[in-house]
Parts: sequence; C-alpha cells; structure tokens
Amino acid sequence: MKKKGKSVVVTGGVWGDEGKGKITNYLGEQSDMVVRFSGGDNAGHTIVFNGNTYKLHIVPSGIFKPSIKNVLGNGCVVNPKALLEEMAVLKESGFECNNLYISDRANVLFDYHRTLDGIQEDRLGARKIGTTKKGIGPCYTDKVARMGIRMCDFISKDFKEIYRDVLKIKNEELARYNSPTIDFETSYQEYQKVADAIRPMVCDTISMINDAYDNGAKILFEGAQGTLLDIDFGTYPFVTSSNPSSGGVSTGSGLGPTKIDEIIGVTKAYTTRVGEGPFPTEMNDNVELAQEIRDRANEYGATTKRPRRIGWYDAVIMKYSCNVNGFTGLSMMLLDVLSGIKKLKICDYYELDGKIIYAPSAKIDDFARCKPHYIEMDGWDEDITGVHSFDELPINCQRYINKIEEILGVPVVIFSVGPDKYQTIVRREIY
Ligand code: IMP
Repeated sequence: MKKKGKSVVVTGGVWGDEGKGKITNYLGEQSDMVVRFSGGDNAGHTIVFNGNTYKLHIVPSGIFKPSIKNVLGNGCVVNPKALLEEMAVLKESGFECNNLYISDRANVLFDYHRTLDGIQEDRLGARKIGTTKKGIGPCYTDKVARMGIRMCDFISKDFKEIYRDVLKIKNEELARYNSPTIDFETSYQEYQKVADAIRPMVCDTISMINDAYDNGAKILFEGAQGTLLDIDFGTYPFVTSSNPSSGGVSTGSGLGPTKIDEIIGVTKAYTTRVGEGPFPTEMNDNVELAQEIRDRANEYGATTKRPRRIGWYDAVIMKYSCNVNGFTGLSMMLLDVLSGIKKLKICDYYELDGKIIYAPSAKIDDFARCKPHYIEMDGWDEDITGVHSFDELPINCQRYINKIEEILGVPVVIFSVGPDKYQTIVRREIY
C-alpha cells in the first residue's frame, strides 16, 4: 500500500502581492517539492534567506535548499532566457539550481511575445491592461491558438523547423504593427544555445509530482499573482492570462483534484492593487493615509517597481475568492502596518443601482460603479511586531481578525506582524 503525501496550495486572495513569498518560504522549507503551476516571470516573490533578500520571478522558492525539488509545471509559460538570467544570479550567490525541473509540456515564451505584449498595450490606449510586459498574454494566446512551442519541442531536433514556421507567422504580425521583424537564422542560433542549457531540466513533471505524492511527499503549490487576476474569475479584462486560483493547480501541474489536501489563501490586512482596473475600496478620500501605508509596507511592485494602489479590507472580493478557491485557511499578512490607525474599515457589501450585492459584478463597468459599504472598527495603538500568539494581540486587533473570519467563514490560521521569519505566527500547523 502506497503512502499518501500531503499537498498544500498557497494562492493570492485578491490582486496578488499579498506576501505569498513569506508563506511559501516558510512552508517550502518543510516541503519535499515546490511547484509553480501558472504564470511566468511576471510574478515577483521577495524571499529573505539567511539575511539576504532575493527577488524571484519564475524560479520556485524552494530553490535555496538542494534537497527540495522545484518544478515549473505544464501550466507555466517559461521565458528560457529570463530563467537562465535568474539562475545565474542565484548561482553567483552559491545556489547551484540543480534541483529545478521544467515540464516538457510547458509553453516557451519567446522574445516576440514580449514585443507583442508592448504593442498590444499601446494599441489598447486608454483601455490598456497595465501588464508587466513580460509577454505573458501573447504566449498564452499562442498556447490556446495551438501555435505555441512547448518545451519538449524546444529541446528537440525538430525545433528548427517548428521555429521557422511559427516565426514566419509572428514576423507577419510584427510587420503589421510596423515593428522590426526577427531574423530567423540569428534568433534560431541564439535559442539553440538556450535550449542546450535548458535541456537537462526538462522532463515529465506530471509523473514526477504524482509519484512523489503517492510516496508520501509534502508538496507545496506556490501560487503567483492572485484570484482577482485569474483569467476566468478576475476583474476581466484587467487580469493575467492564466488561472492563478486553486483550480489552476490540477490543470497546471497534473496532480488530480482529489489529491489536493489544503488550500491557503494569502490576504493582506488591507487591500492593494497594481496596474489599471476598478478598485472599490481604494482610499481615494484619504490619499495621505494611503501613502503612509504604502511607505510603511513598501508597497511598490517587486517586478515593475510601480507604486501599489491602497484600499480598505474588501471582504466582498475576499468572500468571492474563498468561494472560488475553496480555502481551508487564511494567512493574514502585514497586520502590523495597521497599528496606530484610529478607525479601520472592512467592506462587507456593495451597493449597485440601489441594490445590495455580496459578490463582484462580472461586468467591469458595473464593478467600477459598486459603492462599498463599511463596518467601522476601532484600531489599536500598540506595536504588535513582537507578539508570539493571537492572545498577545491587542483586543481590537483580535476583533478585527475575528470580524473578517466571521464574514468569510474561513479561519485565519497564520498571521504576520513583520517581515522577519519569527514574525509569522502559526495558529494551526499546515503540514
Ligand atoms: P500580465 O500578467 O503581465 O499580463 O499582467 C496582467 C495584470 O496582472 C496586470 O494588471 C499586472 O499588474 C498584473 N500582475 C501580473 N503579475 C502580477 C503579480 O505577480 N503581482 C501583482 N500583479 C500582477
């Protein structure tokens, strides 16, 4: 009889940047395997390890420990040049990256995808998405249009012919937008070298993940972006082009849904968003407080350095996120940032055209018109950065957490009161 493993999914509750890096790092250290299942190098995970800060974009966070297998699943889009650059930085710091595996079914993100991402954004004008310009959308577009090139082909002897055919179509597209075309021979030679460097890492990760699970491994699925950026569930069209919510785990890794044991939603103690798109609880009426929070919590994008937009806790979108993901627990981050704010607000429903609604509207213009209704709660003045348990938190802080748990119907199993590892308080062990 085979042993059953344990799989834990960590996904972003709303628009990403919830501090998943800290939680995935904490859980990753206890894991045998860390798997990315969606997105590409549009993600930005800040990991503090042995006093050093590392910015990871596509490499999974278990990379720092050689015993952990790190996997880029079939649901990812992998820019092999960006991956090699990120690995080079890690190698310089002494991390050999021999523990990284790439799905032979993952799609390859090429230079033309990045160029087309920029072109599409410019063409959208006022309706632009505010993408990271990493080529994510165009690469997933090609995947769905069955015009993508997968890792298994990229590293094979057939790559030259496939690339020639695809590049012809892509060059026609670039020419249509008056963008310089790509010389096949030069580009092929360059990518051939890249493929040689990538080849040893490419394998059947579906069997690898399932075998590990069936043999009792602890597997962490590291989410990127967030649920409101999901192509199906997010604030479309202001979304990314993949499924970063928990439903994407099975399609993006090949581990079947019945083998998923725990799903943790990472949520900030307030709400943030980068890029364009409606944001009902944005603090437009209190830009000073928004700036104070931004500075206190260094709310600037890890990938693009853009200032993040700041808002009150939006329990409407978070409740929706709980439904979509099926969270078994929440990890509430950056609680300490709220210390000293006299009155805190939690949005418990929206009003739209005189009606009360408890879920975000599908139509983006309607969502933009939603008026948040707030529960106002007393804040706390105490410095909470040194607490070790829930009971040590000031009573108003406990009430704030309890209120959010009550609205969402999901327990806060972890909370964080500062950037350091010891400032992560675990109320229920996850593994
Ligand atoms: P794309 O993923 O580059 O196509 O960008 C689409 C949208 O997702 C934009 O609003 C980005 O700002 C947002 N986005 C993509 N990756 C992240 C992330 O890791 N954190 C937060 N927002 C992201």
